[in-house]
Amino acid sequence: MKNTIFRIRAVAVLVAVAGVTLSNVTPASAAVPLKNITHRYVGSAVAANHLANEADYRSVLTREFDNVTPENEMKWGVVEATRSHYDWSGADAIVDYARRTGKSVRGHTLVWHSQLPGWVNDLEAGELRSAVKQHIATEMGRYKGKIRAWDVVNEMFNDDGTRRSSVFQQKLGDRYVADAFRWARAADPSAKLYINDYNTEGLNAKSDALYDLVRKLKKQGVPIDGVGFQAHLATQYGFPAGYQANLARFAALGVDVAITEADVRILMPADAAKLAVQANYFKQLWDGCHAVARCVEFTTWGFTDRHSWVPDTFPSEGAACLFDTNLRAKPAYTRINP
Ligand code: G3I
Repeated sequence: MKNTIFRIRAVAVLVAVAGVTLSNVTPASAAVPLKNITHRYVGSAVAANHLANEADYRSVLTREFDNVTPENEMKWGVVEATRSHYDWSGADAIVDYARRTGKSVRGHTLVWHSQLPGWVNDLEAGELRSAVKQHIATEMGRYKGKIRAWDVVNEMFNDDGTRRSSVFQQKLGDRYVADAFRWARAADPSAKLYINDYNTEGLNAKSDALYDLVRKLKKQGVPIDGVGFQAHLATQYGFPAGYQANLARFAALGVDVAITEADVRILMPADAAKLAVQANYFKQLWDGCHAVARCVEFTTWGFTDRHSWVPDTFPSEGAACLFDTNLRAKPAYTRINP
């Protein structure tokens, strides 16, 4: 679908260059937006409150990206903090915005150990299984046909490649993953179904475990369509070794791959040298995705340093996004889109 949109845009740009005025083509003063320089979906995590309250935030998002991922608004702890009492306000607002502006949505996320409501942790195995099934059916059902891709299972591995001891793993055992994908396919057959994780960008024990799992799920006929690589990088830890080869080996299993939460944090304060290293990391992430035909999406975890999860979690780190706090493009942006 993105390919068709891309071709239409390319024609529009050619027409504009030929001197014909088109109302919604990039303003002459701006560079060509990121979303117009690639056949991949280019996305950002978004927060409904910023979308509603900050016109400049909304404007840059609308101009530069053609995918949005709700940063928190679709998580179980947000939509059903109390059992059977749903709050869809933030999720609805983002999906409505996406429909109004012609953007795709990545749903995030259905089965995750974090941001889980307390009541889910307290269920015994049989109830938990029904609750997961019901949660998937309810949330995917609400947005049926409106979400291009869903992060069905999120962050299920430890860094050593063993399975995280989540409430799902403890009470339901290994089968919870295949069950979740089958329930997800039944809930919205049009959505691409992903498994998503961090520290899996390079070749390592965790990505090996993920690779083995995806290979087995495919062999068993479990409906999995894609693998998401979050790509929360930090300049002090180096660029993930074997990144492109890793994406390629997953793609060779017959699944799509996507960069789903990219950011590159730096030790504060930022300076020109650190921003140049950051730019280099973003460029490598971008190029590696573009070197793999089945890499279909490049999404960043927020786009402005004004709003980022990083300083809350790593107080001495920050400045992880493509745009600064004043929404000016940083070297990382211009490196990708000169
Ligand atoms: O909305 C409440 C607010 O009402 C309350 O006053 C405040 C007090 O702490 O908390 C607010 O909720 C916070 C929420 O973000 C919205 O800002 C939560 O405490 C906070 O834990 C939550 O953090 C999110 C985090 O996931 C939770 O694990 C981050 O925004 C979000 O960026 C982050 O995203 C994750 C992806 O989902 C999965 N991959 C890693 C990524 C980064 O950690």
